[in-house]
Formats: sequence, C-alpha cells, structure tokens
Amino acid sequence: MALKNDLLLRAAKGEKTERIPVWLMRQAGRILPEYRAVRNSLSGFIELVSTPDLAAEVTIQPVDILGVDAAIIFSDILVIPEAMGLPYEMIEKKGPHFPKTIGSQAEIDKIKVADIESDLGYVLEAIKITKKELNERVPLIGFAGAPFTIFCYMVEGSGSKTFSKARKMLYQKPEMAHQLMQKITDSTIAYLKAQIKAGADIVQVFDSWAGILPSPQYETFSVAYLKQIANAIQEVPLTLFAKGAYFARKSIAELDCQTVGLDWNMDIKESRALCGNKTLQGNLDPCALYASDKEIMEQTKHMLDQFGFERHIANLGHGVYPDIKPEKVKVFIETVKEYSSR
Ligand code: CP3
Repeated sequence: MALKNDLLLRAAKGEKTERIPVWLMRQAGRILPEYRAVRNSLSGFIELVSTPDLAAEVTIQPVDILGVDAAIIFSDILVIPEAMGLPYEMIEKKGPHFPKTIGSQAEIDKIKVADIESDLGYVLEAIKITKKELNERVPLIGFAGAPFTIFCYMVEGSGSKTFSKARKMLYQKPEMAHQLMQKITDSTIAYLKAQIKAGADIVQVFDSWAGILPSPQYETFSVAYLKQIANAIQEVPLTLFAKGAYFARKSIAELDCQTVGLDWNMDIKESRALCGNKTLQGNLDPCALYASDKEIMEQTKHMLDQFGFERHIANLGHGVYPDIKPEKVKVFIETVKEYSSR
C-alpha cells in the first residue's frame, strides 16, 4: 500500500511538492498533555520506551493532534549505549544518568556491538505497531544519535554544558576514543537498518553535541563516522542533523545523505550555497513559539521565503521545548501548510 501523504519523502528526495512538509523534532512526548497522561500511568520514561504498544500510541499522538506530516518513533538515542552494555536512568526533571561510564581500555573492551534483534527488539516492535496503526497516513521517521553524541554520554555519564570529560579523551586517548566510536557506529548502522526493515520510511541521525568541537576534531571524530553511516544506509532517505556545527555544513552535505538539518543559528541562504542540491530541514528558533500568534506567523513565512519553497522540510532548529503550548505549535504548522500551498 502506498502512503497517502508522502510529502516528506518526496521533499527529502528533492522532488517538487504541492506544499512544504512540516514536522517537529521532539514532537512525540514533551509538549502534549495526552503524552503526560500515558507517561504518568507508568513507572517512568524507560518503561514507556520499552512498551511497544504505548510507544506506538504516543508516536501517533502528534499526527492526530497537531497535524504534522510525519511521525517519529517514540524512543531515545540512549537505547544504543544501553544495548551496548551501559544502561541509563532517566531522572525526573534532570535528564539521563549512566551509573557506569567508559574511561579505560578495559571498559571499552567490555562494551559490545549491540545485537539489535535481542537488545532492541522492543523498538522494532513499536515501529511495526506504529506502521500498522498509522495505516499509511504519513511516513514514519526512525532515528539514532550520531556516534560522537553517543560517545559524549557514554564517557561523561550525563548531560553537561561542556562535555569536558568526554572531550578530554579525544586529546589524551584518541585511539581509545576511535575504538569506542567504531563500536557505536557498527551498532548504529545495524540499528538503523533494522528500523528500516521494521518499517521506518526515512531515518535521521541527531548529532546534538556537534557544536562543542573545533572543526578539525569534528571532521576526525564525527564526520568520519557519519560517513560510514551515510554509505551504509541506502534503503531510504537519510537526514543528518549536526546541531551547532555551522562549520561542518559543507562536509556533511558532501556525504551520501538526502537532507541536512539546520539549527536556528545557521543562515539559510549561506547554507543553500554550502549544501549544494541537498534538501534542507529546519530551522525556526524554538523560542519563537513563545511569541504571539502574529509573530509566529510572520517568522514562519519569512523562514519559508528564505528557503525558497523547494528542497525544504519545515521544522524548528532543534527539538520543541517542553513548556511550549500545543496551540502555538499548531500556529506554526498551519502557517507552513497555508503559506506554502501552491
Ligand atoms: O522526537 C521525538 O519526539 C521522539 C522521541 C525522542 C526522545 N528523545 C524522547 C524523549 C527523540 C528523537 C529523542 C532524541 C534525543 N534524546 C536527543 C537528540 C535530540 C536533541 O534534542 O538534541 C538527545 C540529546 C536525547 C537525550 C535525552 N533524552 C535527554 C537529554 C533527555 C532529558 C531531557 C529531555 O526531555 O530532552 C531525554 C529524555 C526524553 N527523551 C524525554 C522524551 C520525551 C523526556 C522524558 C520524560 O518524558 O520523562
């Protein structure tokens, strides 16, 4: 059966579309009271992630409630470290925490390449249920963290403003860092392929901490691994989103991906010049959704004009913030739909 709304896939492939497709990073969870209701019936985030029928339910909520042109599977980038032997906890109002971290050669040797079917079968099951329940209404996005971002969490053990502990390894033990990064990359490629096999129509890699590295290190420790992923994923379109890595737009666009994600600091016209014929995704300031409806409309229209109504997937420049009102998100979505319809 064919998708009823395949705007996102056609835009990713660079085809002309009747209007610009729109979705939001972190649209599943975070902002919807309907999500909170499901979430509060459970012991916590991890139980929700690992319960496929509930994960499918919250994946579909934004499609029904907000009218986005795609669903993104409800999971987290941190299921990969967990599957590699480094379990995480999600601490309420604080974020992720790893009781064990990676700092020595012995610890790297102990870390395994994830066995996707046995360790992450619950995500694959959630994808299958979601595909069935979506009933071809919109495409389903699969995702993973970029090896560098996952490395940051595995070495640091939690979120951080600087990730200086993780970055220390790049200077003091670069060979060890590469070994860990390679295991993460092998796990990630297998994971994305399994998501595609289970039904994901397009996949996105989030390099959320890309912006903390100097450009030469970003090439060595991140782009090199993104390249392996891009070369391996040929089945469906691939989006690479490296937040803060304005300096790497050209080298990312040179990889074998279809779409490059932009954050809100990245100039749109400059990005077009740097990214050749790639589709671009983004990039409204997430904080613009705190503004009046009128200003949200103006800013969204201005953004659409800058992108030029082709090879564009409308989104925010990063995930939607938890305290944004769903009505404001709807203003953004409706403006994209109306203003870009031709
Ligand atoms: O896009 C979606 O809505 C799908 C689900 C999704 C989650 N996390 C669910 C989640 C996605 C795509 C992610 C990706 C993710 N997770 C990233 C990359 C994207 C980005 O924002 O940069 C990162 C860095 C993480 C790590 C992570 N997970 C952190 C730092 C936190 C705590 C703070 C927060 O809310 O982001 C999480 C928890 C998390 N992941 C929640 C959700 C809905 C909130 C936890 C809860 O409901 O209790």
